[in-house]
Amino acid sequence: MEPGEALRVLEAARAGGLEAIAAAGTLEELEAAKVAVLGRKAPFTEVQRSLGSFGEDDRRRIGRVANEVRGALQAALEERRAELARIEEERLLRADAVDVTLPGRRPRSGSLHPLTIVERDIVEIFTRMGYRVAEGPEVEDDWHNFEALNIPPDHPARTMKDSLYIDVDGLLLRTETSAVQIRTLESQPPPVYVVAPGRTYRREAVDATHLSVFHQVEGLAVDEGLSFADMKGTLEAFARAMFGERRRVRLNPDYFPFVEPGAQVAVSCFVCDGAGCATCGNGWIELLGAGMVHPRVLENCGVDSERYTGFAFGMGIERVAMVRYGVSDMRLFVEGDVRFLEQFQGAA
Ligand code: DAH
Repeated sequence: MEPGEALRVLEAARAGGLEAIAAAGTLEELEAAKVAVLGRKAPFTEVQRSLGSFGEDDRRRIGRVANEVRGALQAALEERRAELARIEEERLLRADAVDVTLPGRRPRSGSLHPLTIVERDIVEIFTRMGYRVAEGPEVEDDWHNFEALNIPPDHPARTMKDSLYIDVDGLLLRTETSAVQIRTLESQPPPVYVVAPGRTYRREAVDATHLSVFHQVEGLAVDEGLSFADMKGTLEAFARAMFGERRRVRLNPDYFPFVEPGAQVAVSCFVCDGAGCATCGNGWIELLGAGMVHPRVLENCGVDSERYTGFAFGMGIERVAMVRYGVSDMRLFVEGDVRFLEQFQGAA
């Protein structure tokens, strides 16, 4: 190689090298530029390798220029490496950045099931009046579900057609929470004031107003001197607490084997106040069965019916919820459709 050419190659290596280094956009590209500019096969390296073939003067001159060029290129490499490292770090910091001023995302919260809300409300109204909560098993025997409640052997509820029997003789899924009346009276002497919420079962074709698994709240008060007027006053207090101060109750004669007299209890409509509307029809909403505990029921439980009297009542939780929330199809309570359930958010 001519000395003149060697110098031109060095100058070209400097100019081209600085350009390549400046153009490197990443640390990998910078590494590649370093190899191209100062690597074993780079023109710069070739000049260096051939230094020995020059005369002394040329060798010194070209060697000095070569040192300058290498120094310049190495300085440029260092500077660019630092710059790229800084850019990369900034990129990472930006990518990881958390904007603490952004509003948080609230997790979606669930809500209580409407039947739970209504059950709790009913129970709370009575516990505030001094009632205690009683419970009984969902699998009942014939005595507690029928016999002790004075339900005659030929009553339709006793047939396979209307009740759900299990494979053990004499046991069935309770058809009404009234069975808890018996268990309570058997286990404690009067005075008794209890409400018994719970699940009940009937062999029923499911439609808009019937479920085969549903819920009731039973009430029982047994004490000395309890009268029909006490019953009416208690149910009126309940209706007002549940549906508003202006409610009145109406009692119509009805028959239930475990009470005498028995009554169908209606509450004046909380929408139209008794005038008649789409919710009630004729101004009254039929809500409960009730009556004075039949003396035979008291005697069945070993309670002296000469000394004690009492009243009992029972209502369907689904029915109360439908009236309260304007739900027209009972099946909505068991379908688990969130669009339905979400509407009760904040209801309790
Ligand atoms: N057990 C009745 C039913 O399922 C409701 C009922 C009516 C309960 C009258 C009572 C009562 O305690 O006195 O339809």
